[in-house]
Amino acid sequence: MKKIDNIVIAIDGPAASGKGSLAKKLAAQLGYDFLDTGSLYRRIALKCIENGVDLANKEEIITLARNFEEELGNYYDDSALRNDNVGSTASKIAQILDVRAVLVEFQRNFAKNAEKGAVLDGRDIGTIICPDADIKFFVTASTQERAKRRHKELQSRGINATTSAVLAEMQERDARDAIRLNEHLAPNHEVNIIDTSDMTPSEVLDTALKIVASFTNPDS
Ligand code: DC
Repeated sequence: MKKIDNIVIAIDGPAASGKGSLAKKLAAQLGYDFLDTGSLYRRIALKCIENGVDLANKEEIITLARNFEEELGNYYDDSALRNDNVGSTASKIAQILDVRAVLVEFQRNFAKNAEKGAVLDGRDIGTIICPDADIKFFVTASTQERAKRRHKELQSRGINATTSAVLAEMQERDARDAIRLNEHLAPNHEVNIIDTSDMTPSEVLDTALKIVASFTNPDS
């Protein structure tokens, strides 16, 4: 029988691939709940920065993350999370499995409790958090293109950075996030891959909407 409620859509991919804006627009268009799971790691990262935590001190980071669990449902200022220092600190603390473990239940409950549907974007949604997601996307783009987009975004926020510095930071982050991202490309993993390198954001959205429609309205 066709599934019409609690549809879970997992969107994973590397930094600046377009996964975040796709996830947000898809959720708005479908009337589903939306969770940007990167923001959870970023919130813990920001707390580490604010508290002057030494990133080599895993125990201190784990304790901070565990104490943070009760804050997960609280309101937060998203704009404070959107800089590259917070992003790269998030990528570092996300390597610690005990930190990841703190966030698992919150993410799974978010998906489970959505009435109509939920869109979650991150790195391990379709593999670890919601391996039974109804629809899985892996959104990617070439490293050069992603660095170009990130550079443009930084410039629009008045932040000066050279393209080569942005590219180097991107490559460093990709290398750290690689283990999780490679899981999506395993031969037995059923995932819709969208390479956005030569696509406009609206083409990406249309492509994803068609895939969702073929799941929710298979007869149309
Ligand atoms: O998607 P983002 O750039 O906001 O994520 C910031 C970092 O958080 C990213 O470099 C890796 C980590 N992350 C993760 O390990 N798992 C997720 N599901 C989401 C983010």
